[in-house]
Amino acid sequence: MTNKKVLLTRRFPEIATQMLKQAGFLVTTRDTEEPMLQDELVAQSKNHDAVLCTLSDKINTDYIWQNAHLDVISQFAVGYDNIDIYEANKQGIPVGYTPDVLTDATADVAFGLMVATSRKMFYLHKSIIAGNWTYFKPNSNLGIELKNKTLGVLGLGRIGTEMAKRCRGAYKMNVIYHNRNRNAEAEKQLDAEYVSFDELLRKSDVLSLHCALNDDTKGLFDHSAFKKMKPTAIFINTSRGLVHNEADLIEALREGEVWGAGLDVTNPEPMKPDNPLLQMENVCVVPHIGSATVETRDEMAKLAAQNIIGFYNKQGMAHIVNPEILK
Ligand code: GLV
Repeated sequence: MTNKKVLLTRRFPEIATQMLKQAGFLVTTRDTEEPMLQDELVAQSKNHDAVLCTLSDKINTDYIWQNAHLDVISQFAVGYDNIDIYEANKQGIPVGYTPDVLTDATADVAFGLMVATSRKMFYLHKSIIAGNWTYFKPNSNLGIELKNKTLGVLGLGRIGTEMAKRCRGAYKMNVIYHNRNRNAEAEKQLDAEYVSFDELLRKSDVLSLHCALNDDTKGLFDHSAFKKMKPTAIFINTSRGLVHNEADLIEALREGEVWGAGLDVTNPEPMKPDNPLLQMENVCVVPHIGSATVETRDEMAKLAAQNIIGFYNKQGMAHIVNPEILK
């Protein structure tokens, strides 16, 4: 038994609470999925030894300064750009996260957005609701085909690789990619070609983002990047909205510099209902649902709880962002 206190910053899948309680932790959980106000988050964390949090919780410099006593932070997400890892390192706080278990679910959303965008599905769905399905029109509602086209992946890691596999399997797409480091295994598996960022922009028929948000990728898809893309290209973002500049994306779509866009992440989030992207024919937007399946969210909850349990019982954290802290 442990008398350690764990704060769950909102209502997560029940399995996380069950596992922590079974392991003897005193768990504070909430009845809502709404994020805490920042002051409340900071204040509540002060009375706990560990925190299980997620992407819209601001675990920033100030939070960590005020909560330097925390033994461990466990993030329910694969991305952890909401956490100041530099500060966590300075305070010696290990940070867990939940990769792998959401790879397929997120790749499915990227693939689904690509198909839906290429055939204007969301727009046409709305046009039926608006009463505009009148008669069969040989020259209207036309999409574009994906077969034998070139998929460009920015960030060919776990999720990017699964997206590429789907695109090869379904449409025999040719895969090119740009990464900080080359991915030899994926090159072999997918016959993928490593290209410069500029080539990625110029050659991709579908450009899908699977990179982390960091100083190198923030705002990377701006006016000048969109201008270099093919006017027939589809832009897919399931990584982080801050990687693209949304005003520039809107302009690029209006000017015909890119053909379409499929977004699971937006800039800012949440997207406002009057965003012009939502009215565009060749745009499909979903509300950050990459990992949102029953199975995946349960697995994420288990991993996030296990990262806390493993830290305290010395079995180790299965997935840790800053392993050097524990050495
Ligand atoms: C979702 O965006 C995640 O990072 O898990």
